[in-house]
Amino acid sequence: MTQEGTHIPVLLEPVVEALAPTDGRVYIDGTYGGGGYSRAVMAVADCTVLAVDRDPDAMQRAWDHAGKDPRLKPAPGRFGELDLAARAAGHEYVDGVMLDLGVSSYQIDQAERGFSFMRDGPLDMRMEQHGPSAADAVNLLSEKDLASIFHFYGEEPASRRIAKFIVKRRDEEKFTRTLDLANLIESSVGGRRGKKTHPATRVFQALRLYVNDELGELVRALVASEEIITSGGRLVVVTFHSLEDRIVKTFLRERGGAMGGGSRHAPEAPAGKSPTFELVARKAIDPTDEEVAGNPRSRSSKLRWAIRTDAPTWGEKSGLNSRIPSLDVLEALLAE
Ligand SMILES: C[S@@+](CC[C@H](N)C(=O)[O-])C[C@H]1O[C@@H](n2cnc3c(N)ncnc32)[C@H](O)[C@@H]1O
Repeated sequence: MTQEGTHIPVLLEPVVEALAPTDGRVYIDGTYGGGGYSRAVMAVADCTVLAVDRDPDAMQRAWDHAGKDPRLKPAPGRFGELDLAARAAGHEYVDGVMLDLGVSSYQIDQAERGFSFMRDGPLDMRMEQHGPSAADAVNLLSEKDLASIFHFYGEEPASRRIAKFIVKRRDEEKFTRTLDLANLIESSVGGRRGKKTHPATRVFQALRLYVNDELGELVRALVASEEIITSGGRLVVVTFHSLEDRIVKTFLRERGGAMGGGSRHAPEAPAGKSPTFELVARKAIDPTDEEVAGNPRSRSSKLRWAIRTDAPTWGEKSGLNSRIPSLDVLEALLAE
């Protein structure tokens, strides 16, 4: 079980094995968190690790860690811009990138960060600790936009109903607290009876993804990794839900040259493009039963990895859902 103030790294051994760290090389830990991956990588090889995280609390841990082990180089920022972070740290190319998506136990366990529907706290959810919060989204976005966010980012079947209840309630009193929103969601879907998970689970996931533009960040990180990983270097990604996994799987299959392949559903690779990644294992790696028993948070995790070829980058990738309002919409509403 997770204890307060710690984060148990998920799929740690297969991540290190997939990255295959080597002495003298440079790696990016794009999601430093509590530093579990960085520490494990530096334990098996005398290498440099650039620690990226968008959360100032995580970066403080990285600075503390770097004070004890100078092979760790803190590089604050978003992983969607990890190419810029590496270049700012003086590295034109790196030998591998690791990403462990989502939130850490440090974030979810701290009620004041507002990520959890189980603990009362401000309705915040901002990893970066600035910008529009989940409360801003819930209090300002239109009913239609909220329903789209809950539907696409939360795969919530009652998305419209919940959005309607939220808008009705906020006209009387705005939302500021996590439990207040969780209770409203619960009552809007007729309580908890017969439900395996808390009725607020999907809406909270959706709001978190939206407020942090997590899927946009993921797409940008994959493209940035293609740009920055040297030939023979590795990209290793751990995802926690199907939306993330689908993005990673599609990207690696597309850039790994697995599209086309005789399937009538699979698009052909664009003319003149050679695969930028070699997919050594086509199937994702799941946690063992033993890992899940020891750390239930690992239950839905999946690891995918690939080796960068020497082909030129394909660059930009779009394809995110255009029915989700962009964060600019919320920023403009806040500025009004
Ligand atoms: C699951 S935790 C990583 C845990 C880490 N592997 C460990 O072993 O301690 C995810 C971390 O990624 C960070 N993160 C999420 N999205 C990010 C982004 N777009 N850019 C940089 N960091 C991000 C979060 O702030 C969080 O600290």
